[in-house]
Formats: sequence, structure tokens, C-alpha cells
Amino acid sequence: MIELGPITGLKGTVTVPGDKSISHRCIMFGSIAKGTTEIHNFLQGADCLATMNCFRTLGISIEERNQVIYVHGNGLHGLKAPSTILDVGNSGTTTRLIAGILAGQPFESKISGDESLNSRPMRRIIDPLTQMGAHISSILRNNCAPLYITPAKLRGIHYESPVASAQIKSCLLLAGLYADGKTSVSEPTLSRNHTELMLQEFGADIRSTFDLNSTRATATIEPCQELFGQKIHVPGDISSAAYFIAAGLLVPDSEILIKNVGINPTRAGLLKVCEDMGGDITLLREHNEGGEPMADILVRTSNLHGITIEGDIIPTLIDEIPIIAVMAAAAEGTTIIKDAAELKVKETDRIETITDNLSAMGANVTPTSDGMIITGGKKLQGAHIHTLLDHRIAMAFSIAALIAEGNTKILDSQCIDVSYPTFYDTFDQLL
Ligand code: S3P
Repeated sequence: MIELGPITGLKGTVTVPGDKSISHRCIMFGSIAKGTTEIHNFLQGADCLATMNCFRTLGISIEERNQVIYVHGNGLHGLKAPSTILDVGNSGTTTRLIAGILAGQPFESKISGDESLNSRPMRRIIDPLTQMGAHISSILRNNCAPLYITPAKLRGIHYESPVASAQIKSCLLLAGLYADGKTSVSEPTLSRNHTELMLQEFGADIRSTFDLNSTRATATIEPCQELFGQKIHVPGDISSAAYFIAAGLLVPDSEILIKNVGINPTRAGLLKVCEDMGGDITLLREHNEGGEPMADILVRTSNLHGITIEGDIIPTLIDEIPIIAVMAAAAEGTTIIKDAAELKVKETDRIETITDNLSAMGANVTPTSDGMIITGGKKLQGAHIHTLLDHRIAMAFSIAALIAEGNTKILDSQCIDVSYPTFYDTFDQLL
């Protein structure tokens, strides 16, 4: 538990830890590549450490020297049968991506996680992997983990995903590396494309197309002989920077510079939302590293107003909706968030966890079937925040606490370890 109260004048320059999605992928792709993958600015959060431990259990040697991670890949066919169940902790990305890799292996494996993970939907990968010929089942027959995977010959398919999900897309593309023909995945709008960008760097034959008529995005991969280890600098995680962007905009008399943040357009919807809400936000030193665009982000205290957030932008800011909801509660007027039913299947049902906690702070918020409606402008009140062990709820409401009247207790605040163990330390640098 942590207790926080109102403050003013957050000032300074901070960096945020490496991107979670990219850190996972560096370990995974490095493990099935030939040679060593060198990772700088790897996120040492519980989710990415779970990925690391899974690949160690699969026989990969991973070392850390001077804060650099070295993954000694054994090639595409070099994983070893695990002697224990693979523990994915709280991590949906680990579960869904590793399942794609494991579906193509000549050994059996089991994947399980914590209570939240084991209640998240896995049918979304079980069904298409089964269409590829994979042998994958939900051990408790509830379409959730624990999952059981046995060897199978995979065939390439075309899959039309009903949801824009990078985890589904990446799972199938990774299985596609082991299939007998090309595999393509189309999705209603483009979800984060780190897998496509990074697999290309590792030498895979992968391409992306975007159909302007239907707005569906398709990624296609050919079966692969070998991937090759790379040197990677992981950009700062925009999903972690989001809390300091919001703090800079909301806390009176603030000016915060956040250095080296990844601004890949498939992740950067938050920046547009901040601008549309009237936020004073400037990108500086924009550049590219390893195919990923980056920038420094300067934010200053602003008067925000409500907007409608819907449609194609939703997948580009899905993890930022908890903090956007906090911004909306502080903004003048009404913010409507729609087309975001995916919030229900995150670490918690975030439509519920956001609306319950905002209501506890006295905000005017109504949950809907695919989002929420927030009418802002009313001063938030300190409250007890029930995170239900959801890291993004803990961090978003820590920022809400800074602009509330009275003190706020964030229950189980240690759950921030999942993506940002040093969150409160970064924060202290701005006081
Ligand atoms: C992620 C994809 C998103 C996101 C999650 C990380 C990834 O999930 O919410 O935090 O790294 O591929 P979905 O694919 O379920 O949208």
C-alpha cells in the first residue's frame, strides 16, 4: 500500500524504463535466433522476467552484464523440452506469444500463470492455432490457461482476426515460422507492429499491407530457415511515460521532459488524445532506432477539455485508457470512450476497475458495454483505490491522487512491479 496526497510543481527531466512489448520480443526472438542477441535498456519488470525464465526453462542461456542482457540463441529448432510447467506469471504477452512458438516444437509443454492470467481468454489463440494443425488445449476446458501443447505439423493459413490484437497476430506469425507455407493474419485495424518490425530485423521474410478500402491490416510471414541474433536498444515505454505525461498536464505549475520514448504510431494514440484535449505537449529530438521511432516528450500544465475517443485509435492507446480516464475526470466537459470492449479482458476488467475507482474518488463516470462516459471538472476526493493487482490501475490512480483533495491509499501498490518497478522512484525525481 502507498499513501499519496495533493502536490504542485512537478519539474524535471526523467527517463522511463524500456518498452514492455519490445523487451518481451527481444528475449523470444533472440532465443530462437542463431547467435547472440544483445539487449540494451531491457525492462526488468515481472512480466518480462517471466518471459526470460520461460526461455531459460526451454534451455536458452541468458546472461546479464553491466545492465546489458545477452541471449545466446540456439536457432529456430534449438529449444529444449522443459522439465517443468512454464510459469508466465501475470503476462498475457508471454502466454500468447510463447504458445505460437511452442506449437511448432517437437516436444510437449504446459503454460500456466497467476489467477488473473489463468482467467483471461485463450480461445482467441487456441482456435486459429488449431486451424494451423497445432495441438493445443485448455487443461481445465474453460478456454483459459493452463494450456497444454503437444507436437504437431503446422500448416500456413490465412486468419481473419475479429479483434485488433498484437498478441493474437504475433502468436500466429511466430507459429508461421514453423509452418509448411505462408501464414497471414488480418485484423480490423493495425495493432502494435513490433513483431513485424523486429522479426524483419532478425531476418524473417515478413511483410505488412494495409487495405485502405476496408481499413483491415494484414501481416504475412513465410516459413523460415533461420533467424539471426541482433543488437537492440529498447525505446522507453510510452505506456509508462503516459503517467508522467498525465502528471505534467494535470498537476498545477508543472513542466516535465521525458527522454527517449518510443512513439511508434501503433502505440502513440495517447499523444493525439492529449493534443485533442488541449494539452501542451511537444515532441523533441525525433529520431529512429532499429526501425522504432523515438522522441523526447515535453509536457506543461494545461487546462484539458473532454473529447470522444473511438474507432481506429483505440488499439493504439488501449493500455493508456486508465490514465486517459483520470485525465478525463480532471478535464472540463464530457469524455466518451467507445469501441474499447477489449478493456474487459486485460489484467482486470478495466471498464469496471476504472469506473469503480473513479467513482470512489467522487468522479461522474458511467460504464458502458465498450467503454465509459466521464464528465469531468469536479474536484476528485482522496479514496481507497482497489487495484485488484492491476499495475496500470495502481499507476493511473497514483496520478489521480496528486490532484485529489485529501489522501489516497493505493492498495497492493507493489503490483506496479509487473511493468514499472521503479515508478515511485522516477516520480521522486520530479519533486
Ligand atoms: C501487447 C498487446 C496488447 C496490450 C498488451 C501488450 C503486446 O494486448 O494490451 O499490454 O505486447 O503484444 P492485445 O494484443 O490483447 O490487444
